[in-house]
Amino acid sequence: MKTLHQNLSLPALALLLGACSQPEAQINIDAAQRGAEVPSSLYGIFFEEINHAGDGGLYAELIQNRGFEDSSVPEGYRIEGDKIYPPAVCNHLTGSKPHPDLAFRWTTDEIPAWSLEQLAGEGATMQLTTEYPLNSATPTALKVTLPVQGRVALSNTGFWGINIEKNKSYFLRFNTSNGNRFDGKATIKLVGADGTELCNRPLALDPDKSWCQYSGELVAAGTDHNARFVIELEGKGTLLLDYVSLFPAETFRNRENGLRKDIAETLEAMRPAFVRWPGGCVVEGITLSNRIKWKETIGDPATRPGVYDTWGYRTTMGFGYHEFLQFCEDIGAEGMFVCNVGLGCQGRAGDACPEEEVDFFINDALDAIDYALGDGTTAWSRKRVENGHPEPFPLKYVEIGNENWGPVYEKRHDKFYKAIKAKYPQLKLISTLGLGGQHRHEKVDMIDPHWYVSPEFFFASDKLFDQQERGDYEIYIGEYAVNQNVGGGNLVGALAEAAFLTGVERNSDLVKMASYAPLLENVNDRVWPTNLIWFDSHRVMGRSSYQVQKMYAENRPSFNVATAFEQPTHPVEVRGRIALGGWNTDNEYKDLKVTLADGRTVEADMTQSWTPQEGTWTAGEGTLKGSGPGVMRWILWSTPEAFGDCSISLKARKTAGAEGFLIYFGMHDGLNGYVLNIGGWGNQTTAFQRIDGNDMPQIPNNISQHVEEGRWYDIRIDVKGGKFTYYLDSKQMLETTIENIQRYVVSGYDESTGELIVKFVNATEEPFTTSVNLQNVTSVERKGKVVTLTSNDPKDENTLDDPKKVFPRESTYNGFSERFDYTFEPWSLTVLRIKAEI
Ligand code: AHR
Repeated sequence: MKTLHQNLSLPALALLLGACSQPEAQINIDAAQRGAEVPSSLYGIFFEEINHAGDGGLYAELIQNRGFEDSSVPEGYRIEGDKIYPPAVCNHLTGSKPHPDLAFRWTTDEIPAWSLEQLAGEGATMQLTTEYPLNSATPTALKVTLPVQGRVALSNTGFWGINIEKNKSYFLRFNTSNGNRFDGKATIKLVGADGTELCNRPLALDPDKSWCQYSGELVAAGTDHNARFVIELEGKGTLLLDYVSLFPAETFRNRENGLRKDIAETLEAMRPAFVRWPGGCVVEGITLSNRIKWKETIGDPATRPGVYDTWGYRTTMGFGYHEFLQFCEDIGAEGMFVCNVGLGCQGRAGDACPEEEVDFFINDALDAIDYALGDGTTAWSRKRVENGHPEPFPLKYVEIGNENWGPVYEKRHDKFYKAIKAKYPQLKLISTLGLGGQHRHEKVDMIDPHWYVSPEFFFASDKLFDQQERGDYEIYIGEYAVNQNVGGGNLVGALAEAAFLTGVERNSDLVKMASYAPLLENVNDRVWPTNLIWFDSHRVMGRSSYQVQKMYAENRPSFNVATAFEQPTHPVEVRGRIALGGWNTDNEYKDLKVTLADGRTVEADMTQSWTPQEGTWTAGEGTLKGSGPGVMRWILWSTPEAFGDCSISLKARKTAGAEGFLIYFGMHDGLNGYVLNIGGWGNQTTAFQRIDGNDMPQIPNNISQHVEEGRWYDIRIDVKGGKFTYYLDSKQMLETTIENIQRYVVSGYDESTGELIVKFVNATEEPFTTSVNLQNVTSVERKGKVVTLTSNDPKDENTLDDPKKVFPRESTYNGFSERFDYTFEPWSLTVLRIKAEI
C-alpha cells in the first residue's frame, strides 16, 4: 500500500506544506499606507433577458408560451422562413439603412411549445385566434376544435422540460372561453417523459361564453425533470384557451409571480450590492419598436404583452420592473434601472426617435423612477401601491441608455441628466460612454466601459485604471467577461478576470461598481458564448468565473493598503501584418515603408498586395484611398512575411469624415493585433489600442490630438520588445509598453474582522513561491484562513454534471507572520486572510 507521501509529486508536497521552495519574488504590504476605501457598491450583478435568463430561468413560470403571444411579430418587422427582418430604419450615426441581410432567428413553429395529439376521434385542430381577446394587450388565444366526438391531449413542453418533483405543489391558473359550446370534460395532467402520470385532476368546464379563469393547486405524485403539462379534452366543439400558467408553489421568498428558488439563491450568494435591469441591448431593441417598455412589464402578468427581444425569442416580461425591484429589496441590493434614450441598438439598426419625441422618453424614465421612489400619492407610485408595495423600493442608479455613443447620444444624455437630477438629485446617473467619455458630457456621474475579451487582454490590463485620470466622475464597469478562446468558460478565463479585478479593487477610488455579463444561461439556448451561471430545468451551476466573483465579494476589504510586488517579467512578442483604415473617415495613404530590426527595408506598392476588409478602397497615383459606405474601413497589406520588431513610416491625409487615421500592426489570426488610433474618440485623442476580436480596448497612455482635413501627416511607429513609440513629423508624441505579467496581487484591510486580505493570481503552470513582508503591523496571528480556486487543468470547466470541478477550497495556514513565504498553486486565485493589528 502506498503512503500519502508516496502518492504526491514534489511540487504538490511543497504546496501541502505551504511553502518550501526558495522565494522567487517579494510582496511588500505596508499597512500604514492606506489606499482607497473599497466601497460596498463594488460587486453587483447585471440581469438581462438573454439565453432564456428570465423566461425558462430565474422567472419561475413553467409553461412556455403561456399567453400564445410567442409568434406575434413586432411592428414593422417581416418574417421569411426562420428569419425575422427589421424595418428599414435609418441609423443615426451613418445615415444608412440596415444591411438587407440583417436578420434574426425566428421560430418556424406556428404555436411554439404546444402540440395537439388526437387520442380518439378525428379532425381535431388547434390554431391561434384574435377573435376574443382576453386582454387588449395580449390579443392572441388558442382555439381547439373537436369537430366530432373525440379525445385530444394538448401539451406544453415547458422550457426544455418541466421540473416536477414528488409531493411538491404547483399553482395552475388558466382561462377558457367556451365560445362554441364545447360539450365535454377536461382533465389536467402532469406527465413524465416516459408517459407516467404524475398528476391527474378532472376539471368541470364552465359553459359560459365569456372568459372564465380557473386556478388551483396540483400536487405531484412523482418526480420527472423533463415532464409535460397536458390538458386532455374529451367531447365535441370548440374551446378557447389563454394565459395557461403553472408555477411551483415554492418560489424565492415564496412570492407570487416569483422567482426560481435555486437560481435566485445562487445570485443572492454572490452578495450583490446592486442589480442592473433590464439590459443590455434589450433596452434599445433591434429597433426602437421592440425595445423593453417598462410600463408593459408591471401589473397582472396576464396583461403583459411581452416582447420579441433582441436575443431572438419572445419574453413574457414576467420578471418585470416590479419583480426586479422586489428582488433587489429581498436580497438587500440597490436597484439600477436602464432607460431608453430614444435610440435603437447602435450595433444593429441604430434608429433614433425624432428630437421632438425625446421628451416622451425622458418622461418615461421619470415615471419609472416615480414608480420606485414616489411616496404613493404620485401617478406612478400609486400603481406601485396598487401592485402591493406601499413603501418605496431601493432604486439608486439610473443608466441613461445602453451602449449608446456619438453626438446624438451625448446631447440626449445631458438632457436626461438635467431632467432626472432636477427631480431626483440623490440618484447616481450613468453614461454609457467608455473610458474618456467623461469629457464628452456637460456633467457626468459615472461612465460605463464594457469589455468582452480574450484572457490575454485581461492579463495585460490589471494596470488599466492606475493610469486613468481622476476627476469629477466615477467608473461603473457594467459588462465584462473573458469570452474568447475559453470554451464555455474555463479556469484560465476566470483567472484573467481575477487578474483584472486586482486592478479594479486597487483603483476603487475611481471604479465604484462592476458587474460581469451576461449573468444567466439556460443551457438549451446559449445565444451568447460565455455566461456566468448555467442551469437547466432542475439544476444550477456557477462557472469558475462565478466562483471568482463570489470570492471577491466575500473578501472585499474595507480599504486598500499599499502593496508592492517585484516579480520577473517577460517582454511581449509582437508579430503580424500591417493594415490601414479609418473610422467614419475617408483617408489617403502613401509612402509606406517598414524598416526591420536587421536594417532591411520593405517598401509597399500601394497598388498591389492589398486586401480590403471593410469599406471601399481605390489605388492610384501612389496612394491608397479608403471610403464608405459603412462606418469602418480597413485594408490589409498581404505581405508574405509577418513583421516583428520594426519601424513603420508612412504619409496619411484625411479627406473627409469624423476622426483621423487607423494604422494597424502585429495583425494575426484575423482580428488580433494592435492599432494606433490617431485622432480617435471624436477626433480628440490618440492612443494605441489592442485588437481583440471585435474589441479595441485602449492601451494606457494617450494624448490629445486633432487631425486636420487635407493635410499630409508624416507618421512613424517604432515597435520594439513590446514598446510602441509614435512619432509625428519626427517628433515623439506617445510611448507605451506592453508587459507579459502573469502574477497579480492586491491587498486591503477588513476593519470588521481585523484581517489583512491578500488576493493573488498565479497565471502560470508553475507553483510560485514569494516572500510576503507585512510592514507597520503591530501583531500577526500565525493561524489564518486560505481560500484557493484552482483545478488540475487550466482548461477545466464546470458543467451541470460536474459543477464543482473548479471550486474554492478552504484551508487553514499556520505560518503567517510579519515575514513569511508562501507558495501559490499553479493556475490559481488565492485569498489569504491574515489576522493582524495595524
Ligand atoms: O451582455 C450581452 C450584451 O453585450 C448586452 O446586451 C450588451 O449591452 C452588450 O453588447
